[in-house]
Amino acid sequence: MEVGAVVFDAYGTLFDIDALAPQCESLWPGKGKAFVDLWRAKQLQYSWLRSLMASYVDFDVITAEAMVGACKVLDLPCDVSHIRSFLKIIRTLQAFPEVPALLKALGGRKRVILSNGSPAMLEATVGNNGLSGEIDLILSADTVQVYKPDPRVYQLVVDKLAIEKERIAFVSSNGWDACGAKRFGFWVSWVNRMRSPLDELGVVPDQILSSLAELPGYL
Ligand code: 2OP
Repeated sequence: MEVGAVVFDAYGTLFDIDALAPQCESLWPGKGKAFVDLWRAKQLQYSWLRSLMASYVDFDVITAEAMVGACKVLDLPCDVSHIRSFLKIIRTLQAFPEVPALLKALGGRKRVILSNGSPAMLEATVGNNGLSGEIDLILSADTVQVYKPDPRVYQLVVDKLAIEKERIAFVSSNGWDACGAKRFGFWVSWVNRMRSPLDELGVVPDQILSSLAELPGYL
């Protein structure tokens, strides 16, 4: 297969969610990691539930609502200033260390982000990491007002690039996203940094890597 484009998920794949925990320590001392773990789980759940309920709000709103939900469970303070600070922190989320060199190594191919993040969040995070020159296109679920793994989101790539889905290499560290993309019909690389078991969703990614750094050698 000749790869026509390499499409990356954003959060957890290019950008390191765990790196949020130390920053959240300044908002909730001693609770940064507990907050980040629960917030992320709720952020994903809320995106899927709102998709099923046909009640789309953008990913900034999902992020803030998940934050309020997580703080309620953990009994942490959460006022407007906490929400503003956290939404700023999210925009400075660090890329994994191997990402700049990886994107450069893929320079001859189209490098795309396809994420549930809002365009404003994604552009800010890519820019804050100095990666704007290394990403050719950012596509957001916001265009279709529903979240991955709904097939309409993956279809955005096909519509925009006019490349057959089998020639699109989709790369995600999120197992649910890798399965959704495989079900859609992409060629899928699951970057399984934590060596987690694969979810039982009736599909298997084409390739499993332990780090993004391995990707260029396999494409
Ligand atoms: C994404 O970037 C939410 O990680 C997911 O689309």
